[in-house]
Amino acid sequence: MKQYKLIGPITQLISLDTIKTKGSVKDQDLIIIEKAGILIEDEKIHTIGQFSDLKEKADIHTTEIIELHTDYVCTPGFIDAHTHICFSGSRANDYAMRNAGKSYLEIAKAGGGIWDTVTQTRKASIQELSNGVIKRANTLLKNGITTVEVKSGYGLSVEEELKMLRAIKNASPETKVDLITTCLAGHMLPKDYTGDHKEYLEEISTTLFPILKEEKLANRIDAFIEQSAFSPSHIYPYFEKAKHMGFDITVHADQFTAGGSEVAVKVEAISADHLEASTDKEIQMLAKSNVVSVALPGASIGLGCSFTPARKILDAGGALAIASDWNPGSAPMGDLLMQACVLGTFEKLSNAEVLAGVTSRAAAALNLKDRGKLVSGMLADFNLFPTHSIHEIFYHQGKLVPSQVWKRGVLVP
Ligand code: NIG
Ligand code: FE
Repeated sequence: MKQYKLIGPITQLISLDTIKTKGSVKDQDLIIIEKAGILIEDEKIHTIGQFSDLKEKADIHTTEIIELHTDYVCTPGFIDAHTHICFSGSRANDYAMRNAGKSYLEIAKAGGGIWDTVTQTRKASIQELSNGVIKRANTLLKNGITTVEVKSGYGLSVEEELKMLRAIKNASPETKVDLITTCLAGHMLPKDYTGDHKEYLEEISTTLFPILKEEKLANRIDAFIEQSAFSPSHIYPYFEKAKHMGFDITVHADQFTAGGSEVAVKVEAISADHLEASTDKEIQMLAKSNVVSVALPGASIGLGCSFTPARKILDAGGALAIASDWNPGSAPMGDLLMQACVLGTFEKLSNAEVLAGVTSRAAAALNLKDRGKLVSGMLADFNLFPTHSIHEIFYHQGKLVPSQVWKRGVLVP
């Protein structure tokens, strides 16, 4: 059995090695390695270099050489740092009503909104939910996304949240994609809960959090801070408790009204996601902190709302990741590359900023240190796009998909 694989020559390889973690990035900052090779050992990158050098040094007894005969551009595997792909049902009616001018309240009265998905998801079996996750994760994988964050948040009771989180855990070995699970029991106050916001969060943190640890179901806690969901004062004690137990924190922040990002900064969350309503005050606060700002252009496109002020965040010195927010309500499309490209055109982002947003900075948004760059020792997760230039990938706005996706050193069939 050969121990190494050597792939090349690759027309352009973008390792992202030198890209800083925060602030604006110019396309000239992208170091492009031409005629590159990747030497893989097991699931990791052993060496990145010139293909001809690596080939010359390779031991033919232990190395399988995979020669490429056409142009390819190699990027790190993409990371979708914010999704809700564990759900049942469709919200096509919400979409139609919203586009026909109906208000949030009218849609909710007609049986739509998050609660509709909660109702559908509660009716689904754990196996049905797992199957949905596997199917959607594999769709993302074909488009070069090798790591996907998946939230609960459509169960909204201890038992129903556990069903969702166990469904995600069961899906994990059935797909090549790495699934990073987040508990979003703090998505909204469930309509059938008899107590108030404080009592609900208290019940979740006392009863559910310990089970998350015991069963290793999730290492991240998320909450939706918004007028229709939870206020900062509800969430502070909830997050403090989660932090105390060793969970990473992430926040649905400033989607329609500002407020959540301040909580994210104060509790030293890993990321603050959405931020469509962030003003200069929030942008400055985020930029000074270590919180990664996550733009979700899929939600802006799905709802017909403004985009996250990505340019301002980067110019202020912030770290910007871009994720799909794939969910049945606000972001039904689930196409990360297309959405990142569109955000780039509307927000005037360099291609380097878009690429970092779905690779190295997306890894930071998930607190993952072993991926997002093509560097020795990192996971061998990468994409080969059938083109000669990195700029072609963004120019095609998501329509150019990888011909080869490699996950943990293995070509995805
Ligand atoms: O990230 N903002 C709140 N939660 C989701 C939407 C969920 C839904 O509408 O089902 C979001 O956009
Ligand atoms: Fe979301």
